[in-house]
Amino acid sequence: MSITQYNGSAIVAMTGKNCVVIGCDKRLGQQALTVDMNFEKVFRVKDKLYVGLPGLATDVQTLHDRIRYRVNMYDLEEERAIQPDNLAHMISNMLYQKRFGPYFCEPIIAGLTEKDEPYIMGMDLIGCLSSAPDFIVGGTASDNLYGMCEALWEPDLGPDDLFRSASQALLNAVDRDAMSGWGAVVHVITPEKTETYHLQGRQD
Ligand SMILES: *[C@@H]1O[C@H](CO)[C@@H](O)[C@H](O)[C@H]1NC(C)=O
Repeated sequence: MSITQYNGSAIVAMTGKNCVVIGCDKRLGQQALTVDMNFEKVFRVKDKLYVGLPGLATDVQTLHDRIRYRVNMYDLEEERAIQPDNLAHMISNMLYQKRFGPYFCEPIIAGLTEKDEPYIMGMDLIGCLSSAPDFIVGGTASDNLYGMCEALWEPDLGPDDLFRSASQALLNAVDRDAMSGWGAVVHVITPEKTETYHLQGRQD
């Protein structure tokens, strides 16, 4: 088993019409043993900008701390809000600097740009960026998430429909993955506000 699959995770980001959603499961495990059922892997960076960190739990926390530090420094030095593509390249850089002893984490960025266009971006553990117009998935349930998203995503969904598609994709994907699940949290990002929903999932 790969070290990135040890603790288990499932993250999905989807684009809609002037909105974007990002969600994750809540399980933290030590292989098949569930250790915690309230371990969130998606973090707010700014209003309208979130990052999901699927992978080894220790590196999830380390990376989250380092991202927060770098974003705070960006705020102070640049005196403007960091944009989603800036953040993606910043994290990509952080990962590539450590390419010979990488963080075992494959971040997913989701947010709205200055023009309120949806932005999603994925990368591997040494920071190779990969973009998609529709959705980005990650974690141990990513194969299942690909299947669900492929079926449920449609272009130009509004926030409510996009929330439904992403939630169903997430809940049904983790039900077929023993390493992730135990409920989910989904953030729906629109130009006016971001809403966070906690979803009840199967407890087995
Ligand atoms: C996550 O996985 C690592 C193995 O690489 C393990 O040492 C650690 O205990 C796991 N985390 C938890 C909280 O179980």
